[in-house]
Amino acid sequence: MTSGLVTAGGGGGGKVMSLRLQYYVVLGGVAAVVLLACLRYTPTAAAVAAVGYGFWGNGDGASLAAAGAAATTVGGTGTSAAATTGGGGAGGGRSPSRVVIFNFGDSNSDTGGMAAAMGLNIALPEGRTYFRRPTGRISDGRLVIDFICESLNTPHLSPYLKSLGSDFSNGVNFAIGGSTATPGGSTFSLDVQLHQFLYFRTRSIELINQGVRTPIDRDGFRNAIYTIDIGQNDLAAYMNLPYDQVLAKIPTIVAHIKYTIEALYGHGGRKFWVHGTGALGCLPQKLSIPRDDDSDLDGNGCLKTYNAAAREFNAQLGAACRRLRQRMADAAVVFTDVYAAKYDLVANHTLHGIERPLMACCGNGGPPYNYNHFKMCMSAEMELCDMGARFASWDGVHYTEAANAIVAARVLTGEYSTPPVRFASLVNSTAVPNDG
Ligand SMILES: *[C@@H]1O[C@H](CO)[C@@H](O)[C@H](O)[C@H]1NC(C)=O
Ligand SMILES: *[C@@H]1O[C@H](CO)[C@@H](O)[C@H](O)[C@H]1NC(C)=O
Repeated sequence: MTSGLVTAGGGGGGKVMSLRLQYYVVLGGVAAVVLLACLRYTPTAAAVAAVGYGFWGNGDGASLAAAGAAATTVGGTGTSAAATTGGGGAGGGRSPSRVVIFNFGDSNSDTGGMAAAMGLNIALPEGRTYFRRPTGRISDGRLVIDFICESLNTPHLSPYLKSLGSDFSNGVNFAIGGSTATPGGSTFSLDVQLHQFLYFRTRSIELINQGVRTPIDRDGFRNAIYTIDIGQNDLAAYMNLPYDQVLAKIPTIVAHIKYTIEALYGHGGRKFWVHGTGALGCLPQKLSIPRDDDSDLDGNGCLKTYNAAAREFNAQLGAACRRLRQRMADAAVVFTDVYAAKYDLVANHTLHGIERPLMACCGNGGPPYNYNHFKMCMSAEMELCDMGARFASWDGVHYTEAANAIVAARVLTGEYSTPPVRFASLVNSTAVPNDG
């Protein structure tokens, strides 16, 4: 199996053509909104030359056509998102041990919020591997938060702003792609997500007081798990500054996350699962920024400076969580070092069956990174890896379903967490919340 990628630029049937049209539409929206907003830096030149890897482009559009064909067969599989989120099977039962998760974050855990909020037509190949259709997630399949939900046998979370087909009986996903922890750094920064939650909670309690049945009842709010995964966009936005200035920004980013946890606690939240940020220096997008030499690369080919900043952010966020545990003695505040899990994916990639840990599956330019800021995934010139290929990076920034599955499995065990508890242990933990 040598042919890693198939270029979208080849000839194809009508299906391919119409898909391509969609890519243009999306390119305007997504490239401008998701990816620029997400990662606010502008490389000075096309990062990678896009010339002639015969290896890549057999140009028949086969993978793309296959992805398109797959999209027409949704519904038969029983694994589609509609089956998971639409039915509300778990929501109907109302057992006292019902799981409720409120998630806050960025594209790492956005299950369709950005697409709903901005009206973006996120197209294939997004979603191609698992859902077999685009769901608004920026990945070929499920995200870590999806695997977390599945591990508790609860449906995937519906985005707060998704007006059709949402089911909030097992929680709400406030995460939106491109979001920052810093207020004003993005449209749906963490403070806005917090206010959306407070709006949802206040409105629910109003209705409950009127005797109206709401998706989440008092017990649901009381026992909910609050998951937070944000900060990557803040950090990434500062990384063009000198390193000491990057370090100087970290306490403020962390303070916003800490403040959010305190506010949620003030409104009755007692179970918090907080993710640190990932190994930014191993992302193809960062690696493809032109550099003078390779002196900043570590033994695994990742950028040391970016990773040092990510580790420092995590150290400070971990310390903030420790202080919160001391102050909020009746709450569970678990910090999980996602960096360690994601770096392990690169360092030990062969153990995990990952072929190319530093190369994007969906991008442009070929090895070593297949990332071009101007020819990204979903653009007409994207070069896409084969369906079964085991890449860690989906589009240079976001992870593949394969990688998310590995990261989630590790994270759920608690082996990267402080205190080292399993995620599932929070479900029945007996924190004693009040209604705040
Ligand atoms: C790679 O795997 C080995 C064996 O499981 C482990 O000891 C080591 O910590 C891992 N490396 C990283 C960077 O996680
Ligand atoms: C929580 O407790 C209920 C009732 O005892 C049990 O059915 C459920 O499996 C527990 N959930 C977890 C994740 O441990």
